Amino acid sequence: MTTPKNVDRRQFLQYSLFGATLAAFPGVLLAESSQIKTSPTPGFNADVELEFTAQDAFISIFDEGKKTKVQKYFAKLLKGPKETLTQLHDTHLGPIVHFVKGQKVRVFFNNELTEPHIIHWHGLHVPQSSDGHPMYSVEPGEKFVYEFEVLNRAGTSFYHSHAHHLTAEQVYRGLAGLITVSDDEEKALDLPRGEYDVPFAIQDRTFDDNNQLQYLNGMMMGKMMGFLGDTILVNGKKDAEFAVKTRAYRFRALNGSSSRIYKLGWEDGTPLTAIGTDACLLEKPETRPYIMLAPGERVDLWLDFTGREVGSKLVMFSLPHSGTMPAMYEKMHKGGKHSEAGSEQHRGMGMMGGMQHGGGNKTEAGEHQGMGMGGMHGGGMQGGGMGMMNGLAQGAKFVLATFKVTEKVSDSPKLPTKLVTFQRLTAADTDNAGQPIPIAISEGPMAMRLNTKPFSMDEVMDIEKVKLGSIKKIKIFHAHGGEQKMEHGDNAESKSGGMMGGMGGGMMMSMAHPIHLHGQQYQILSRKISGMGSPGYETVKDGFIDSGWKDTVLVMPGEEVEIVKPFQDYKGLFLYHCHNLEHEGMDMMRQFYIS
Ligand code: C2O
Ligand code: CU
Ligand code: CU
Repeated sequence: MTTPKNVDRRQFLQYSLFGATLAAFPGVLLAESSQIKTSPTPGFNADVELEFTAQDAFISIFDEGKKTKVQKYFAKLLKGPKETLTQLHDTHLGPIVHFVKGQKVRVFFNNELTEPHIIHWHGLHVPQSSDGHPMYSVEPGEKFVYEFEVLNRAGTSFYHSHAHHLTAEQVYRGLAGLITVSDDEEKALDLPRGEYDVPFAIQDRTFDDNNQLQYLNGMMMGKMMGFLGDTILVNGKKDAEFAVKTRAYRFRALNGSSSRIYKLGWEDGTPLTAIGTDACLLEKPETRPYIMLAPGERVDLWLDFTGREVGSKLVMFSLPHSGTMPAMYEKMHKGGKHSEAGSEQHRGMGMMGGMQHGGGNKTEAGEHQGMGMGGMHGGGMQGGGMGMMNGLAQGAKFVLATFKVTEKVSDSPKLPTKLVTFQRLTAADTDNAGQPIPIAISEGPMAMRLNTKPFSMDEVMDIEKVKLGSIKKIKIFHAHGGEQKMEHGDNAESKSGGMMGGMGGGMMMSMAHPIHLHGQQYQILSRKISGMGSPGYETVKDGFIDSGWKDTVLVMPGEEVEIVKPFQDYKGLFLYHCHNLEHEGMDMMRQFYIS
């Protein structure tokens, strides 16, 4: 594995090597807090102290053959309740971290990788300096100290790499793990606990014949479409099986994949019940025929095996769906393999045979990395390149996991009718109801962007400046040439966004993006399909759970999603980006500056 260091990266290293990055952050940015923190704050009395190390490791994912080289988090509990860490074995995933609301946490991080790294606590509302902003990426052999209080309510979050331009590949190679937060409100509920509270981290990977991870190899359009692997792992295991008793369980589902969007559903059509979304329990359970789970999203499932026969098996699928990929891709994968893939892996199958090695982009060339025009005209589009070469298309049907009922028991909690209470936010709670902050998605052959500009470490636009304590309405939408313009951007910017859309981008490239905002969770106000709409929308629309707190929301092509987000507690820079990690790596990321 090599990770080419591009020009951006080198330039950034120059800044961070000097520790004080002051000069590189003119204007808005906060000199002292951009420093790499390497020692504990004397007055910060931690209830929990952890030591995290990221390093290369070899693990047994397969029963036979070579061990798989991964990058992995190891953690040790230095101080605090012993149940803080659940160690997982034979998986690339880091240990599960169990926090309790109100705890003060200190994490000593050691980077023992051969490349820069920083950890982000996705879903936790923490200060900028502990949020894993890529400006804090530390070099191999260096350390970083995190300190934060757990302000979150009970729910499921996760941690993962946020190293500058390295996030996607590092997460792919293993650098991620689950977080649970519990609180008194949750404890008062009769929810499944202990062995009945189970992680369900879903990821897709591609392995070569030596059991080694393959990343984007031969995927010509891989960066544009995102990485799609041909092997589904749950909790780091292939062909996942769970032995269950005849009672209710809580399964904490996380989509830890780069780009794959799952449509969770039982094979026999039994509906699915959710009790929580990103980082928080719902007000009341929601039962759906299926549940959509985009990269970065979590859903806490209530799976009840009561009344099932001992010896019976239930299969959870990712059900067939469409409409999340650009029109050309969708057309190519209609019918046939698309919906009948079953659990079989069609490694290397298909139309792309001869193109596997033609013109793939293995090098990253500065800012416009990703696929080049050459790749596109060289048959990428016409020949059906579109990044799908590994056999399991976006939207295909496949098995996620099998549940075997192994024991009859009589004690099961009942699904509560009410879960937690929280204030339902409306536009009236915001101070900008008539002038929402835009998050404009633009898609072009050269670039995926938010608000038309690539990520830049040291810059925010006026529309990205927010007053501490305010509650904002934010409108996330697709900005295609002419159809829809950014409303409050400076004009020059909105024009370039429109142009990008018009020039070969626009609807042709339009796809679904999971948009993630760091910091506090938000609520979803509305979803609207505009313009040409979204073919395939009816295959996904009943699976969005929009009634809870969210930090990541899937925005379908042609869709406009309005959210309400509080910006409380912490000043500073907080990222927002596409959680399709290949897109994030292409700088489909910006930041808010809270002051
Ligand atoms: Cu899960 Cu900024 O990321
Ligand atoms: Cu995050
Ligand atoms: Cu995206």
